[in-house]
Amino acid sequence: MICLCCSLLVTSCCFKQFTEHHAMEIFVFSLPVQVLPPVNFTLTVSALAQVLLHWKPNPNQEQRNYTIRYDLKILSPVPEEYDTKRTYSIQAVALHNGFSACLRTLLLHGGLQLSSEWLKEELPPLPGAPETSVTNLSCVTHLTTSSTVSLHCTWLPGQGAPEDTKYFLFYRYEMYTEECQDYIQDKWDRNIECRFSVTHIDAEELDKPVVIHINGSSKYAAIKPFQHLFNQNAIEKVNVPRNVSVFLEQNDLLATWEKPISPFPKECFEYEFYLFNWKSGNKQV
Ligand SMILES: *[C@@H]1O[C@H](CO)[C@@H](O)[C@H](O)[C@H]1NC(C)=O
Ligand SMILES: *[C@@H]1O[C@H](CO)[C@@H](O)[C@H](O)[C@H]1NC(C)=O
Ligand SMILES: *[C@@H]1O[C@H](CO)[C@@H](O)[C@H](O)[C@H]1NC(C)=O
Ligand SMILES: *[C@@H]1O[C@H](CO)[C@@H](O)[C@H](O)[C@H]1NC(C)=O
Ligand SMILES: *[C@@H]1O[C@H](CO)[C@@H](O)[C@H](O)[C@H]1NC(C)=O
Repeated sequence: MICLCCSLLVTSCCFKQFTEHHAMEIFVFSLPVQVLPPVNFTLTVSALAQVLLHWKPNPNQEQRNYTIRYDLKILSPVPEEYDTKRTYSIQAVALHNGFSACLRTLLLHGGLQLSSEWLKEELPPLPGAPETSVTNLSCVTHLTTSSTVSLHCTWLPGQGAPEDTKYFLFYRYEMYTEECQDYIQDKWDRNIECRFSVTHIDAEELDKPVVIHINGSSKYAAIKPFQHLFNQNAIEKVNVPRNVSVFLEQNDLLATWEKPISPFPKECFEYEFYLFNWKSGNKQV
């Protein structure tokens, strides 16, 4: 078993899974059926920070009454494992440091589970010189009065990025991709900030990722792209309360305001009220 794994050159991660099922495989050894790995396992970059994994059932796999499933294990950049009846999977993930996954066939029969050897496929890291990628990327979204979502991102040039580096930012939301047209530069004229006053981001769909891709060009070095997936939930910047008004009623100060423009309901908000007395310098919260 160990030799088999070595010859497959699967990672220690795959290997561990293999040994866990070892006992089971011996137990059902008498079942006269061989489990063959899927064929034509392929990884395709189908959009920015999106990879399509697809494969075919092994044409020589004995079918009979067995249930065939596939065990898909993503090794990097974010480990994850699950099994599926399908012969494809679409993953949204940052690909700048590469991607690798293992796949095998599972054969289920009367409570028993047999598995094939693992196949492994990978995508290489996106090319570029070390330390040329942007760092400290930070983005916020805002729901605007016209109910569209704006996007604002800032970043720092990589330590190894030459002074003539020009960075380009793209955002992807679902199948829509757009390049930034409104950049702000640092003192060397390198783009370090970008604004989209209107995007295709749906304010109501807080769990769909906002993909950011920043690549660049320079005469002196290949600039390594950087990708990040933001959860809109986490980067939605809360707007200020609307219609704030303050007035005196006899000796009482009365302040009123309304919920800010937001996809979140009233119940989600708490307010902080600061009262400054300019004359006395008193501050109350
Ligand atoms: C796998 O790919 C090869 C080469 O592209 C092709 O000839 C073969 O038919 C494919 N196998 C299946 C089961 O689709
Ligand atoms: C498939 O299962 C049915 C019912 O359980 C059984 O009658 C039949 O013989 C099985 N066929 C094969 C090829 O094992
Ligand atoms: C950039 O990020 C690094 C590591 O997270 C941090 O130490 C550093 O202070 C950040 N730089 C700026 C200017 O925010
Ligand atoms: C940056 O990425 C976009 C989107 O993938 C691509 O169209 C463009 O050619 C890239 N630019 C550079 C300089 O690599
Ligand atoms: C703000 O207050 C004004 C006057 O009371 C009112 O007409 C307006 O509809 C309010 N705006 C919102 C967004 O509630």
